[in-house]
Amino acid sequence: MPQRFFIETFGCQMNEHDSEKVAGLLAHRGMVAVNSLEEADLFLINTCSVREKAAQKLYSRLGEVKKHKTSHPQFLIGVLGCLAQQEGEDMVKRVPFVDLVVGTHMFHALPDLLEEVEQRRGSGARVATDFLPAPTPVEIPQVIRQSDFRANITIMEGCNKQCSFCIVPTTRGRERNRPAQAVLQEARRAVDQGYVEILLLGQTVNSYKDPNDRHFRFADLLSQVASIPRLQRVRFTSPHPREFDDHTISVIGEMETICNQVHLPLQSGSTPILKRMRRQYTRERYLEIVDKFRNCGRPIALSTDIIVGFPGESDADFQQTLSLVEEVQFESMFSFKYSPRPHTAAEHWQDEIPEEKKTHRLMLLQKMQKEIQLRLHQEHYLGRHLEVLVEGTARDGVRRFGRTSTNKVVNFPGTDRPGTFTEVFITDVGPNSLVGQKTTDRQQNCA
Ligand code: SAH
Ligand code: F3S
Repeated sequence: MPQRFFIETFGCQMNEHDSEKVAGLLAHRGMVAVNSLEEADLFLINTCSVREKAAQKLYSRLGEVKKHKTSHPQFLIGVLGCLAQQEGEDMVKRVPFVDLVVGTHMFHALPDLLEEVEQRRGSGARVATDFLPAPTPVEIPQVIRQSDFRANITIMEGCNKQCSFCIVPTTRGRERNRPAQAVLQEARRAVDQGYVEILLLGQTVNSYKDPNDRHFRFADLLSQVASIPRLQRVRFTSPHPREFDDHTISVIGEMETICNQVHLPLQSGSTPILKRMRRQYTRERYLEIVDKFRNCGRPIALSTDIIVGFPGESDADFQQTLSLVEEVQFESMFSFKYSPRPHTAAEHWQDEIPEEKKTHRLMLLQKMQKEIQLRLHQEHYLGRHLEVLVEGTARDGVRRFGRTSTNKVVNFPGTDRPGTFTEVFITDVGPNSLVGQKTTDRQQNCA
């Protein structure tokens, strides 16, 4: 068995957390995590396939890693995650120097698969991309958390929606919910260990239903997690707008432990495009959900995801997206050019919007969003005292940075330990972050 492993992770928070589980599984078998490829005898790369660019990035990274393998013949390379699931044997044809390809349903078997690879050295790569028939996600209690203060916790995996642009249902499979009891046990243990923030994870996190009690839904789980004594903050990602029922919105409105930031992926502001995207809501319905959050009892910062250049998106459709963005005033946004993906319905529709047009639309959207963020920061943050959870050293290498409950990055001078809370007076704002001075320390310690 290899002894020292190094994991690189591309993609979403679900992937980050899968890598934490994999690290735990390997450490449990006596392997040691190292901080660089050069120190490792096993290199694992956890992949994303949501856009073509992510796939290209993986192959160019593997090209670099191959050089290391040439000079270190015992070195093993394993590819994990969504692209591994999607490509399987095809991946080995393209990059025959990889030793192991493990899909999203087979992480738990990784230590055994590594033993197999060791035994069959020289006889080609081992590809493990079977879909598990398991009705609930495999429990992996050995997780090694990257953060000392934020605990990622899976509540469900997979997605039953069929958005026409999205590969996730193919790579992750159908919805599987974890028993609420297992989630709550993990959450309580994390708090006992000193974690102050919990991030609940799932591909459509708010469609959660306890497999042992279908009436126990996302709102119930969220409220029970948020009630754990000493827990300071709860976040969740990634929700689907349609799955926000009134109960969930009222729980978010009432419970201060739940961060006052909600991700509400829009994708497009045009109803005909939303229909082609199979998003299951119209522009008007989306705006109604926004309104419910606006009236839920406390201010909630809304963030979103938008795709430009979806097949059939006319200038008028795109204007609808801009006008909705102007109307809602999102606090942050992830925006993407449409990228056709295999195994999706839209794959067969002509990707007819020229690249330059997509680029232009993306630029217009991002410019508008930047102005909105700067204005919101000036109006709602400048001159206020805000509670910040300290995360680490700022990019300048000198100051500290942390996050507000609304998920804004705040840079400030100080020596506070990551995982502690402090109050910061905001003295300056930019479109992407805030700057301030500490006012008081709230002595909250963590793990
Ligand atoms: N609920 C999911 C969303 C997955 S993808 C989750 O987080 O697990 C994240 C975002 O990528 C989507 O909201 C969408 O805006 C974008 N995206 C997905 N497929 C895409 C595609 N084919 N082209 C461009 N962007 C895409
Ligand atoms: Fe993808 Fe739509 Fe599910 S964006 S993850 S198919 S909700």
